[in-house]
Amino acid sequence: MRDDQRTDVPTPEDDPDALGLSNPAPHAPIGEIIAARYGRRALLGTGAAAVALAALPAGVDAQPVVPRTGGPSTLTFPELRHQLAQDHSVAEGYEAQIVIRWGDPVLPGAAPFDPANVTEAAQARQFGYNCDYLDFHPLPRGSRSADHGLLVVNQEYTNAHLMFPGLGSARQARTRTTAAQVRAEMMAHGVSVIEVKREGGRWGTVAEGRQNRRITADTPMRIAGPAAGAARMRTSADPAGTRALGTINNCAGGNTPWGTVLTAEENFNYYFGGDPAKTPHAEIMRRYGIVGSSLYNWWTHQDRFNVEKEPNESFRFGWVVEFDPYDPDSVPVKRTALGRFKHEGATHAVSADGRVVFYSGDDERFEFLYKFVTARAWNPNDRAANRDLLDDGTLYVAKFEADGKVQWLPLVHGQGPLTAANGFNDQGDVVIETRRAAALLGATPMDRPEDVETNPVNGRVYVMLTNNSRRTAQQVDAANPRARNVHGHVVEIIPPGAGTASVDHAATEATWGIFISAGKPGVDAGAQYHRATSDQGWMSCPDNCAFDSKGRIWISTDGAPTNAGVADGLYAADTAGQGRALTRLFYQAPTGAEVCGPCITPDDRTIFLAIQHPGEDPGSTFERPSTRWPDFVDGTPPRPSVIAIVKRDGGTIGD
Ligand code: FEO
Ligand code: CA
Ligand code: CA
Ligand code: CA
Repeated sequence: MRDDQRTDVPTPEDDPDALGLSNPAPHAPIGEIIAARYGRRALLGTGAAAVALAALPAGVDAQPVVPRTGGPSTLTFPELRHQLAQDHSVAEGYEAQIVIRWGDPVLPGAAPFDPANVTEAAQARQFGYNCDYLDFHPLPRGSRSADHGLLVVNQEYTNAHLMFPGLGSARQARTRTTAAQVRAEMMAHGVSVIEVKREGGRWGTVAEGRQNRRITADTPMRIAGPAAGAARMRTSADPAGTRALGTINNCAGGNTPWGTVLTAEENFNYYFGGDPAKTPHAEIMRRYGIVGSSLYNWWTHQDRFNVEKEPNESFRFGWVVEFDPYDPDSVPVKRTALGRFKHEGATHAVSADGRVVFYSGDDERFEFLYKFVTARAWNPNDRAANRDLLDDGTLYVAKFEADGKVQWLPLVHGQGPLTAANGFNDQGDVVIETRRAAALLGATPMDRPEDVETNPVNGRVYVMLTNNSRRTAQQVDAANPRARNVHGHVVEIIPPGAGTASVDHAATEATWGIFISAGKPGVDAGAQYHRATSDQGWMSCPDNCAFDSKGRIWISTDGAPTNAGVADGLYAADTAGQGRALTRLFYQAPTGAEVCGPCITPDDRTIFLAIQHPGEDPGSTFERPSTRWPDFVDGTPPRPSVIAIVKRDGGTIGD
């Protein structure tokens, strides 16, 4: 969610004076060390200028390019120049194909998309809204196919004011959506699984694919791990606390070596209304941003989202959910051992001894970076042996030291402060209140940790820190060195053995450094890239990333400074060699959109991207949207869509 930009949609994150930051004690300053190491000048603000909608170019085949600016990069594409436009653009020599749009059919019998009549029944069988995490699983299962597979797509949230006519602004829509519209919104959430195929150079969906699936805010799920059955997990619909309905705000995700998908529940707090003070849980709800101010109208029409009527329902969200994409009947499982917070994603790396490590950021200002390490090694020869591997292991939180070390602190009941004296009676309590437990351990509050990915070539772990405009000069630390960090940065963690064949991702200590500091060099203090990065290659608000098989990083952004004429996009850079951190702009999103879920096929010939919330600009409405991407048909609002970018000559991306 591009919360820094949503001027007409203030969120609890945006408005701490009204609603409070969730983390009440964002940390011990070590400002003097930092001042010496990085300097301390405040950044220039981007503010949140309204977009001059009418002035945006609409050309559908605009390919604005500037000549390659040289430098030692291994990437050969001519970089785009920054611009705001109603349409998207990709570097010359490449083609962006629309794979699936909001409202396109997923399940047999799906109604054709009708923007004048978005209903629960139609939406339940169609592609949902605001696509985010993307994952490609080859067909047949176990093959190396890069032309045919299942595309798993998170459907993070809905923009009712762009989905339904007559609701006015985003803020007005919040309280105007009807009971029927809320049901349609619930069906537009969750996950889609779609069979896709590349034929004659074009990606498309396979009609009525056998494994196609819609998971929604209503899909029955199992709750497993230390919080299953806990008193706070029980509701009137589920007195045992072991069965939940649905998953919401699924942002990024990950997968496992045994072939399952992890979908991460992020800003679940925004769905809950009612007065937390009328429940026994006001304090913990506040710590998670449930403060009686919902961004949706679900709680007025669906009792379980009203904390006064169902005080425990919110504890059943904020988890990582595992499911088998190849089995449309499999019951998704909420894996509580991985902790409860605003999981951006959950990406894995196999440690040298076969144990599997899952990295996950808690995407909010001043929240923490976590990893979960399975107790046992995974078994490549026996899928059943891995079935419940995610229920047994250790959750750690990161403490970044100024001397370049990172300590991984275990969140284990009975250890350190995680005892009954502090309200932790068992591991269930620790995972339900992960944030409070991590703060007690002294974890480092970060500048919104988003995607965390491991580079398959050098074994290093890259953490996207999207921004934190609220960090003060007194609150800077080595890993978050800029006050008013509106552009974000990327931290690089180097586990023991990185660069060799046996990387110890499970180790409790590693080293770290800063890969890039975003913003415009020469304008935004502290902005740092390769010195050959051009005027077009700088970025703002790194959010998701992926690696190609050569170990080059592809970073997508969420929160570009529109007042500087910059749209969100996809940038690429080498991570090693002479071109390290020489970022280049490869793809520019349509106005209002962020770019999510970069997913590169194993042959490096396709990058799938989720183009989320096109047209989510201030003042944009269903009737007068800032763009009608990708259809550009009068009366049809913008449609969040998955695209596939391929090279026109069929070659590998970036080469
Ligand atoms: Fe859904 Fe953290 O962005
Ligand atoms: Ca985002
Ligand atoms: Ca994100
Ligand atoms: Ca990713």
